[in-house]
Amino acid sequence: MDIFVIQGGSPLSGTVRVSGAKNAALPLMAASLLAEGPMEIVGAPRLRDISTFGKVLRHMGASVERLDAGGDGRETVRIDPRTVGKAEAPYELVKTMRASVLVLGPLVARHGRARISLPGGCAIGARPIDQHLKGLELMGAKTSLVEGYVEVDAGRLSGATIYFDMKTVTGTENLMMAATLARGTTVLKNAAREPEVCDLARALRAMGADIEGEGTDEIAVRGTDSLRGTRHEVMPDRIEASTLLLAGAITGGDVTVRGADPFAMDAVLTKLAESGAEVFADPGSVRVRREGPIRSLNLETSPYPGFPTDVQAQFMAYLCLGDGFSIVRETIFENRFMHVAELRRMGARIEVSGNAAAVKGVQALSGAPLMATDLRASASLVLAGLAANGTTEVLRIYHLDRGYEALENKLARLGARISRVKE
Ligand code: EPZ
Repeated sequence: MDIFVIQGGSPLSGTVRVSGAKNAALPLMAASLLAEGPMEIVGAPRLRDISTFGKVLRHMGASVERLDAGGDGRETVRIDPRTVGKAEAPYELVKTMRASVLVLGPLVARHGRARISLPGGCAIGARPIDQHLKGLELMGAKTSLVEGYVEVDAGRLSGATIYFDMKTVTGTENLMMAATLARGTTVLKNAAREPEVCDLARALRAMGADIEGEGTDEIAVRGTDSLRGTRHEVMPDRIEASTLLLAGAITGGDVTVRGADPFAMDAVLTKLAESGAEVFADPGSVRVRREGPIRSLNLETSPYPGFPTDVQAQFMAYLCLGDGFSIVRETIFENRFMHVAELRRMGARIEVSGNAAAVKGVQALSGAPLMATDLRASASLVLAGLAANGTTEVLRIYHLDRGYEALENKLARLGARISRVKE
Protein backbone atom coordinates (compact mmCIF):
# COMPACT_ATOMS: atom_id res chain seq x y z
CA MET A 1 0.00 0.00 0.00
CA ASP A 2 1.26 3.46 -0.89
CA ILE A 3 2.26 6.14 1.59
CA PHE A 4 2.53 9.91 1.18
CA VAL A 5 5.71 11.39 2.71
CA ILE A 6 5.37 15.13 3.31
CA GLN A 7 7.97 17.65 4.46
CA GLY A 8 5.83 20.42 5.94
CA GLY A 9 6.34 24.13 6.47
CA SER A 10 6.63 25.59 2.97
CA PRO A 11 3.88 27.94 1.70
CA LEU A 12 2.20 26.66 -1.47
CA SER A 13 1.83 29.01 -4.39
CA GLY A 14 1.04 28.86 -8.06
CA THR A 15 -1.73 27.63 -10.33
CA VAL A 16 -3.25 24.17 -10.74
CA ARG A 17 -6.17 22.86 -12.79
CA VAL A 18 -9.08 21.11 -11.08
CA SER A 19 -10.29 17.71 -12.33
CA GLY A 20 -13.83 16.73 -13.29
CA ALA A 21 -16.14 16.05 -10.36
CA LYS A 22 -16.19 12.44 -9.12
CA ASN A 23 -19.68 12.92 -7.68
CA ALA A 24 -20.97 14.21 -11.00
CA ALA A 25 -19.20 11.62 -13.19
CA LEU A 26 -20.57 8.63 -11.21
CA PRO A 27 -24.30 9.43 -11.71
CA LEU A 28 -23.55 10.35 -15.33
CA MET A 29 -22.07 6.87 -15.86
CA ALA A 30 -25.22 5.38 -14.31
CA ALA A 31 -27.42 7.50 -16.60
CA SER A 32 -25.85 5.78 -19.61
CA LEU A 33 -27.93 2.71 -18.69
CA LEU A 34 -31.09 4.64 -19.63
CA ALA A 35 -29.98 5.34 -23.19
CA GLU A 36 -30.67 3.58 -26.52
CA GLY A 37 -27.17 4.50 -27.69
CA PRO A 38 -23.66 5.30 -26.47
CA MET A 39 -22.88 8.00 -23.90
CA GLU A 40 -19.63 9.98 -23.83
CA ILE A 41 -18.55 11.59 -20.56
CA VAL A 42 -15.87 14.22 -21.20
CA GLY A 43 -13.45 15.06 -18.40
CA ALA A 44 -14.26 12.11 -16.14
CA PRO A 45 -11.44 12.08 -13.54
CA ARG A 46 -8.94 9.21 -13.42
CA LEU A 47 -10.01 7.74 -10.06
CA ARG A 48 -10.47 4.32 -8.54
CA ASP A 49 -14.18 4.94 -8.03
CA ILE A 50 -14.62 5.74 -11.72
CA SER A 51 -12.85 2.54 -12.79
CA THR A 52 -14.84 0.56 -10.22
CA PHE A 53 -18.07 1.95 -11.66
CA GLY A 54 -16.81 0.92 -15.10
CA LYS A 55 -16.37 -2.64 -13.78
CA VAL A 56 -19.98 -2.62 -12.49
CA LEU A 57 -21.25 -1.55 -15.92
CA ARG A 58 -19.06 -4.14 -17.69
CA HIS A 59 -20.38 -6.81 -15.30
CA MET A 60 -23.84 -6.01 -16.68
CA GLY A 61 -22.61 -6.37 -20.24
CA ALA A 62 -22.12 -2.71 -21.21
CA SER A 63 -18.98 -1.74 -23.08
CA VAL A 64 -16.88 0.88 -21.26
CA GLU A 65 -13.75 2.42 -22.72
CA ARG A 66 -11.56 5.39 -21.88
CA LEU A 67 -10.78 7.30 -25.11
CA ASP A 68 -7.42 9.01 -25.56
CA ALA A 69 -7.13 12.50 -24.18
CA GLY A 70 -8.09 15.27 -26.58
CA GLY A 71 -6.01 18.37 -27.25
CA ASP A 72 -6.88 19.83 -23.88
CA GLY A 73 -5.68 16.71 -22.04
CA ARG A 74 -9.14 15.74 -20.87
CA GLU A 75 -10.11 12.13 -21.37
CA THR A 76 -13.50 10.74 -22.28
CA VAL A 77 -15.25 7.67 -20.93
CA ARG A 78 -17.46 6.08 -23.60
CA ILE A 79 -20.22 3.73 -22.46
CA ASP A 80 -22.42 1.70 -24.82
CA PRO A 81 -25.35 0.19 -22.88
CA ARG A 82 -26.86 -1.69 -25.84
CA THR A 83 -25.24 -4.97 -24.80
CA VAL A 84 -26.45 -4.84 -21.18
CA GLY A 85 -28.01 -8.20 -20.38
CA LYS A 86 -27.69 -8.57 -16.62
CA ALA A 87 -29.42 -6.04 -14.37
CA GLU A 88 -27.23 -6.83 -11.38
CA ALA A 89 -24.48 -5.18 -9.30
CA PRO A 90 -22.51 -7.82 -7.35
CA TYR A 91 -21.41 -7.63 -3.71
CA GLU A 92 -17.70 -7.76 -4.48
CA LEU A 93 -17.97 -4.51 -6.44
CA VAL A 94 -20.66 -2.70 -4.44
CA LYS A 95 -18.80 -3.28 -1.15
CA THR A 96 -15.89 -1.24 -2.50
CA MET A 97 -18.04 1.62 -3.70
CA ARG A 98 -21.45 2.56 -2.32
CA ALA A 99 -22.17 4.82 -5.30
CA SER A 100 -22.94 1.61 -7.23
CA VAL A 101 -26.44 2.10 -5.79
CA LEU A 102 -26.88 4.68 -8.57
CA VAL A 103 -27.52 1.89 -11.09
CA LEU A 104 -30.77 1.03 -9.29
CA GLY A 105 -33.02 3.71 -10.77
CA PRO A 106 -31.75 3.41 -14.35
CA LEU A 107 -31.91 -0.42 -14.36
CA VAL A 108 -35.48 -0.56 -13.05
CA ALA A 109 -36.59 2.19 -15.44
CA ARG A 110 -34.93 0.67 -18.51
CA HIS A 111 -35.14 -3.08 -17.78
CA GLY A 112 -38.01 -3.34 -15.29
CA ARG A 113 -35.88 -4.96 -12.62
CA ALA A 114 -32.60 -4.80 -10.71
CA ARG A 115 -30.65 -6.88 -8.24
CA ILE A 116 -27.96 -5.00 -6.36
CA SER A 117 -26.00 -5.86 -3.27
CA LEU A 118 -27.32 -3.74 -0.41
CA PRO A 119 -24.47 -1.30 0.14
CA GLY A 120 -23.02 -1.79 3.58
CA GLY A 121 -22.18 1.09 5.82
CA CYS A 122 -18.81 2.70 5.53
CA ALA A 123 -16.38 4.46 7.83
CA ILE A 124 -18.48 7.62 8.03
CA GLY A 125 -21.86 6.08 8.76
CA ALA A 126 -24.61 3.50 8.20
CA ARG A 127 -25.69 5.17 4.94
CA PRO A 128 -28.99 3.36 4.36
CA ILE A 129 -30.89 3.59 1.05
CA ASP A 130 -34.43 3.52 2.45
CA GLN A 131 -35.36 6.73 0.63
CA HIS A 132 -34.24 5.30 -2.71
CA LEU A 133 -36.41 2.19 -2.17
CA LYS A 134 -39.40 4.16 -0.82
CA GLY A 135 -39.40 6.27 -3.99
CA LEU A 136 -39.26 3.25 -6.30
CA GLU A 137 -42.10 1.60 -4.38
CA LEU A 138 -44.23 4.72 -4.76
CA MET A 139 -43.55 4.43 -8.51
CA GLY A 140 -44.95 0.88 -8.51
CA ALA A 141 -41.88 -1.26 -7.94
CA LYS A 142 -41.80 -4.25 -5.59
CA THR A 143 -38.64 -4.41 -3.48
CA SER A 144 -37.31 -7.26 -1.34
CA LEU A 145 -34.10 -8.03 0.51
CA VAL A 146 -32.76 -11.50 -0.34
CA GLU A 147 -29.39 -12.69 1.03
CA GLY A 148 -27.99 -9.17 1.26
CA TYR A 149 -29.23 -8.23 -2.19
CA VAL A 150 -31.97 -5.72 -2.92
CA GLU A 151 -34.26 -7.17 -5.59
CA VAL A 152 -36.53 -4.69 -7.34
CA ASP A 153 -39.24 -5.68 -9.81
CA ALA A 154 -41.49 -3.33 -11.72
CA GLY A 155 -43.34 -3.37 -14.99
CA ARG A 156 -43.12 0.10 -16.37
CA LEU A 157 -42.72 2.56 -13.50
CA SER A 158 -45.51 5.08 -12.96
CA GLY A 159 -45.00 8.72 -12.06
CA ALA A 160 -45.55 9.59 -8.39
CA THR A 161 -45.10 12.40 -5.89
CA ILE A 162 -42.18 11.51 -3.64
CA TYR A 163 -41.28 13.44 -0.47
CA PHE A 164 -37.78 12.74 0.84
CA ASP A 165 -37.58 12.50 4.64
CA MET A 166 -34.14 14.09 4.41
CA LYS A 167 -31.99 15.63 1.68
CA THR A 168 -30.29 12.76 -0.13
CA VAL A 169 -27.98 13.41 -3.08
CA THR A 170 -27.89 9.95 -4.66
CA GLY A 171 -31.50 9.35 -3.60
CA THR A 172 -32.54 12.42 -5.62
CA GLU A 173 -30.31 11.34 -8.52
CA ASN A 174 -31.57 7.73 -8.52
CA LEU A 175 -35.23 8.70 -8.58
CA MET A 176 -34.77 11.53 -11.06
CA MET A 177 -33.21 8.97 -13.44
CA ALA A 178 -35.94 6.39 -12.75
CA ALA A 179 -38.65 8.99 -13.46
CA THR A 180 -37.32 9.87 -16.94
CA LEU A 181 -38.77 6.65 -18.43
CA ALA A 182 -41.80 6.28 -16.16
CA ARG A 183 -45.38 6.60 -17.38
CA GLY A 184 -46.62 10.04 -16.32
CA THR A 185 -45.14 12.77 -14.14
CA THR A 186 -43.00 12.41 -11.02
CA VAL A 187 -42.49 15.22 -8.51
CA LEU A 188 -39.55 14.97 -6.10
CA LYS A 189 -40.12 17.09 -2.99
CA ASN A 190 -37.40 18.03 -0.50
CA ALA A 191 -34.97 17.16 -3.32
CA ALA A 192 -31.21 17.67 -2.94
CA ARG A 193 -29.96 20.88 -4.60
CA GLU A 194 -26.29 19.93 -5.07
CA PRO A 195 -24.58 21.15 -8.29
CA GLU A 196 -23.92 17.50 -9.20
CA VAL A 197 -27.70 16.89 -9.26
CA CYS A 198 -28.00 19.84 -11.67
CA ASP A 199 -25.18 18.50 -13.87
CA LEU A 200 -27.01 15.17 -14.12
CA ALA A 201 -30.29 16.91 -14.98
CA ARG A 202 -28.55 18.81 -17.79
CA ALA A 203 -27.21 15.54 -19.23
CA LEU A 204 -30.61 13.81 -18.95
CA ARG A 205 -32.25 16.75 -20.74
CA ALA A 206 -29.69 16.43 -23.56
CA MET A 207 -30.69 12.75 -23.74
CA GLY A 208 -34.31 13.78 -24.30
CA ALA A 209 -35.65 13.80 -20.74
CA ASP A 210 -38.27 16.34 -19.69
CA ILE A 211 -37.05 17.72 -16.34
CA GLU A 212 -37.50 21.03 -14.56
CA GLY A 213 -36.68 22.41 -11.13
CA GLU A 214 -33.25 20.89 -10.53
CA GLY A 215 -31.32 23.02 -8.04
CA THR A 216 -34.51 23.71 -6.10
CA ASP A 217 -36.31 21.62 -3.46
CA GLU A 218 -38.84 20.42 -6.05
CA ILE A 219 -37.98 18.60 -9.29
CA ALA A 220 -40.66 17.61 -11.82
CA VAL A 221 -39.99 14.88 -14.41
CA ARG A 222 -42.40 14.04 -17.21
CA GLY A 223 -41.67 10.46 -18.31
CA THR A 224 -40.85 9.67 -21.94
CA ASP A 225 -40.59 6.41 -23.91
CA SER A 226 -36.86 6.39 -24.61
CA LEU A 227 -33.66 8.39 -24.23
CA ARG A 228 -30.74 8.78 -26.63
CA GLY A 229 -27.05 8.79 -25.79
CA THR A 230 -25.26 12.13 -25.52
CA ARG A 231 -21.83 13.67 -25.05
CA HIS A 232 -21.60 15.53 -21.76
CA GLU A 233 -18.79 17.50 -20.15
CA VAL A 234 -18.45 16.79 -16.42
CA MET A 235 -18.60 19.83 -14.11
CA PRO A 236 -15.43 20.72 -12.16
CA ASP A 237 -14.89 19.07 -8.78
CA ARG A 238 -15.83 21.67 -6.16
CA ILE A 239 -14.57 19.42 -3.33
CA GLU A 240 -11.14 18.92 -4.89
CA ALA A 241 -10.97 22.66 -5.66
CA SER A 242 -11.82 23.47 -2.02
CA THR A 243 -9.12 21.06 -0.85
CA LEU A 244 -6.47 22.64 -3.11
CA LEU A 245 -7.41 26.18 -2.00
CA LEU A 246 -7.20 25.07 1.65
CA ALA A 247 -3.71 23.69 0.93
CA GLY A 248 -2.74 27.26 0.01
CA ALA A 249 -4.54 28.83 2.96
CA ILE A 250 -3.22 26.42 5.62
CA THR A 251 0.40 26.95 4.50
CA GLY A 252 0.09 30.76 4.26
CA GLY A 253 0.49 30.64 0.51
CA ASP A 254 -1.21 31.92 -2.64
CA VAL A 255 -2.97 29.30 -4.78
CA THR A 256 -5.08 29.65 -7.91
CA VAL A 257 -7.33 26.77 -9.03
CA ARG A 258 -8.13 26.97 -12.76
CA GLY A 259 -11.43 25.56 -13.97
CA ALA A 260 -13.13 25.82 -10.56
CA ASP A 261 -16.66 27.23 -10.46
CA PRO A 262 -16.85 29.74 -7.57
CA PHE A 263 -20.65 29.78 -7.72
CA ALA A 264 -20.71 26.13 -6.62
CA MET A 265 -18.31 26.84 -3.72
CA ASP A 266 -19.91 29.89 -2.12
CA ALA A 267 -20.15 28.47 1.43
CA VAL A 268 -16.49 27.38 1.46
CA LEU A 269 -15.19 30.65 -0.03
CA THR A 270 -17.28 32.66 2.45
CA LYS A 271 -15.75 30.73 5.38
CA LEU A 272 -12.25 31.13 3.96
CA ALA A 273 -12.80 34.92 3.76
CA GLU A 274 -14.23 34.90 7.31
CA SER A 275 -11.01 33.22 8.47
CA GLY A 276 -9.00 36.15 7.13
CA ALA A 277 -7.83 34.68 3.83
CA GLU A 278 -8.18 36.82 0.68
CA VAL A 279 -10.45 35.23 -1.91
CA PHE A 280 -10.45 36.26 -5.60
CA ALA A 281 -13.21 34.58 -7.63
CA ASP A 282 -13.58 34.76 -11.41
CA PRO A 283 -15.99 32.63 -13.53
CA GLY A 284 -13.24 30.23 -14.54
CA SER A 285 -10.87 30.24 -11.58
CA VAL A 286 -10.54 30.89 -7.86
CA ARG A 287 -7.52 32.24 -6.01
CA VAL A 288 -6.91 32.23 -2.24
CA ARG A 289 -4.05 34.00 -0.47
CA ARG A 290 -3.38 34.06 3.28
CA GLU A 291 -0.77 36.27 4.91
CA GLY A 292 -2.22 37.12 8.33
CA PRO A 293 -3.39 34.86 11.18
CA ILE A 294 -6.13 32.25 10.69
CA ARG A 295 -9.14 33.70 12.45
CA SER A 296 -10.97 30.90 14.32
CA LEU A 297 -14.64 30.53 13.41
CA ASN A 298 -17.64 28.24 13.88
CA LEU A 299 -18.70 25.87 11.10
CA GLU A 300 -21.76 23.68 10.58
CA THR A 301 -22.21 21.31 7.63
CA SER A 302 -25.57 21.17 5.89
CA PRO A 303 -27.05 20.16 2.53
CA TYR A 304 -26.25 22.44 -0.44
CA PRO A 305 -26.08 25.43 -0.54
CA GLY A 306 -24.79 25.04 3.03
CA PHE A 307 -21.22 24.13 3.96
CA PRO A 308 -20.41 20.75 2.33
CA THR A 309 -19.76 17.81 4.66
CA ASP A 310 -17.08 16.68 2.18
CA VAL A 311 -14.95 19.71 3.10
CA GLN A 312 -15.49 19.52 6.89
CA ALA A 313 -12.40 17.47 7.69
CA GLN A 314 -10.13 19.59 5.49
CA PHE A 315 -11.43 22.85 7.00
CA MET A 316 -10.98 21.46 10.53
CA ALA A 317 -7.29 20.84 9.81
CA TYR A 318 -7.06 24.52 8.83
CA LEU A 319 -8.82 25.64 12.03
CA CYS A 320 -6.32 23.65 14.14
CA LEU A 321 -3.94 26.57 13.49
CA GLY A 322 -6.55 29.24 14.25
CA ASP A 323 -6.02 32.13 16.64
CA GLY A 324 -8.73 31.06 19.09
CA PHE A 325 -11.63 28.59 19.53
CA SER A 326 -13.72 27.02 16.74
CA ILE A 327 -16.76 24.77 16.95
CA VAL A 328 -17.24 22.38 14.01
CA ARG A 329 -20.64 20.69 13.85
CA GLU A 330 -21.23 17.75 11.46
CA THR A 331 -24.96 17.35 10.76
CA ILE A 332 -24.97 15.00 7.73
CA PHE A 333 -23.09 11.86 8.79
CA GLU A 334 -22.94 10.26 12.21
CA ASN A 335 -19.25 9.40 12.28
CA ARG A 336 -17.27 11.88 10.27
CA PHE A 337 -14.65 12.92 12.85
CA MET A 338 -12.17 10.09 12.22
CA HIS A 339 -9.50 12.63 11.31
CA VAL A 340 -9.64 14.08 14.87
CA ALA A 341 -7.59 11.34 16.57
CA GLU A 342 -4.90 11.61 13.89
CA LEU A 343 -4.80 15.43 14.02
CA ARG A 344 -4.40 15.21 17.80
CA ARG A 345 -1.28 13.10 17.24
CA MET A 346 0.17 16.14 15.46
CA GLY A 347 -0.49 18.34 18.48
CA ALA A 348 -3.95 19.62 17.55
CA ARG A 349 -6.23 20.51 20.49
CA ILE A 350 -9.67 19.07 19.63
CA GLU A 351 -12.44 17.82 21.93
CA VAL A 352 -15.42 15.96 20.43
CA SER A 353 -18.86 15.84 22.01
CA GLY A 354 -21.57 14.18 19.91
CA ASN A 355 -21.64 15.77 16.46
CA ALA A 356 -19.60 18.79 17.55
CA ALA A 357 -15.84 19.24 17.76
CA ALA A 358 -14.25 22.10 19.75
CA VAL A 359 -10.95 23.13 18.19
CA LYS A 360 -8.49 25.28 20.15
CA GLY A 361 -5.98 26.71 17.73
CA VAL A 362 -2.29 26.01 18.36
CA GLN A 363 0.82 27.79 17.16
CA ALA A 364 2.09 24.85 15.14
CA LEU A 365 1.46 21.21 14.34
CA SER A 366 4.24 18.65 14.28
CA GLY A 367 4.68 15.97 11.63
CA ALA A 368 3.86 12.36 12.56
CA PRO A 369 3.03 8.98 10.99
CA LEU A 370 -0.74 9.01 10.38
CA MET A 371 -3.40 6.55 9.22
CA ALA A 372 -5.99 7.53 6.62
CA THR A 373 -9.47 6.14 7.29
CA ASP A 374 -11.80 7.59 4.68
CA LEU A 375 -11.56 9.73 1.60
CA ARG A 376 -11.95 13.22 3.00
CA ALA A 377 -10.29 12.50 6.36
CA SER A 378 -7.15 11.49 4.45
CA ALA A 379 -7.21 14.82 2.60
CA SER A 380 -7.39 16.55 5.97
CA LEU A 381 -4.24 14.75 7.13
CA VAL A 382 -2.37 15.73 3.97
CA LEU A 383 -3.27 19.40 4.53
CA ALA A 384 -2.13 19.20 8.16
CA GLY A 385 1.13 17.58 7.05
CA LEU A 386 1.77 20.38 4.54
CA ALA A 387 1.54 22.95 7.35
CA ALA A 388 3.26 20.95 10.10
CA ASN A 389 6.89 21.23 11.15
CA GLY A 390 8.85 18.16 10.17
CA THR A 391 7.89 15.00 8.32
CA THR A 392 4.43 13.47 8.04
CA GLU A 393 3.70 10.04 6.61
CA VAL A 394 0.09 9.32 5.62
CA LEU A 395 -0.56 5.58 5.37
CA ARG A 396 -3.36 3.82 3.42
CA ILE A 397 -3.72 6.55 0.82
CA TYR A 398 -5.76 4.22 -1.32
CA HIS A 399 -8.60 6.01 0.46
CA LEU A 400 -7.36 9.23 -1.09
CA ASP A 401 -6.95 7.74 -4.55
CA ARG A 402 -10.70 7.09 -4.60
CA GLY A 403 -11.48 10.78 -4.87
CA TYR A 404 -8.39 12.76 -5.82
CA GLU A 405 -6.64 12.43 -9.17
CA ALA A 406 -2.85 12.44 -8.64
CA LEU A 407 -3.12 14.80 -5.69
CA GLU A 408 0.60 14.62 -4.92
CA ASN A 409 1.45 15.86 -8.43
CA LYS A 410 -0.93 18.81 -8.12
CA LEU A 411 0.43 19.75 -4.69
CA ALA A 412 4.06 19.33 -5.83
CA ARG A 413 3.32 21.70 -8.73
CA LEU A 414 2.36 24.24 -6.05
CA GLY A 415 5.69 23.76 -4.28
CA ALA A 416 4.74 21.10 -1.76
CA ARG A 417 7.46 18.66 -0.72
CA ILE A 418 5.39 15.49 -1.06
CA SER A 419 6.13 12.09 -2.58
CA ARG A 420 4.32 8.79 -2.99
CA VAL A 421 6.26 5.83 -1.61
CA LYS A 422 5.42 2.16 -2.02
CA GLU A 423 5.13 0.60 1.47
C1 EPZ B 1 -23.38 11.82 -1.60
O1 EPZ B 1 -23.50 10.64 -0.84
C2 EPZ B 1 -21.90 11.95 -1.94
N1 EPZ B 1 -21.50 10.79 -2.76
C3 EPZ B 1 -21.07 12.01 -0.65
O2 EPZ B 1 -19.72 12.19 -1.02
C4 EPZ B 1 -21.53 13.22 0.15
O3 EPZ B 1 -20.82 13.26 1.36
C5 EPZ B 1 -23.04 13.10 0.43
O4 EPZ B 1 -23.76 12.96 -0.82
C6 EPZ B 1 -23.59 14.31 1.16
O5 EPZ B 1 -23.37 15.45 0.41
C7 EPZ B 1 -21.83 10.78 -4.07
O6 EPZ B 1 -22.46 11.69 -4.59
C8 EPZ B 1 -21.38 9.59 -4.86
P1 EPZ B 1 -26.85 11.30 1.08
P2 EPZ B 1 -24.96 10.03 -0.53
O7 EPZ B 1 -27.80 10.27 0.55
O8 EPZ B 1 -25.89 10.37 -1.62
C9 EPZ B 1 -28.96 9.72 5.03
C10 EPZ B 1 -17.44 11.76 -0.96
O9 EPZ B 1 -16.64 12.01 -0.06
N2 EPZ B 1 -29.76 8.88 4.13
O10 EPZ B 1 -27.00 12.71 0.62
O11 EPZ B 1 -24.77 8.60 -0.18
C11 EPZ B 1 -27.48 9.35 5.00
O12 EPZ B 1 -27.24 8.28 5.91
C12 EPZ B 1 -18.79 11.16 -0.64
O13 EPZ B 1 -17.25 12.01 -2.18
C13 EPZ B 1 -30.73 8.02 4.68
O14 EPZ B 1 -30.90 7.95 5.91
O15 EPZ B 1 -25.37 10.84 0.76
C14 EPZ B 1 -26.81 10.63 5.41
O16 EPZ B 1 -26.84 10.74 6.82
C15 EPZ B 1 -18.86 10.76 0.82
N3 EPZ B 1 -31.48 7.25 3.85
C16 EPZ B 1 -27.71 11.71 4.81
O17 EPZ B 1 -28.97 11.07 4.55
C17 EPZ B 1 -31.32 7.27 2.48
O18 EPZ B 1 -32.06 6.54 1.77
C18 EPZ B 1 -27.19 12.29 3.50
O19 EPZ B 1 -26.85 11.20 2.68
C19 EPZ B 1 -30.34 8.14 1.94
C20 EPZ B 1 -29.58 8.93 2.78
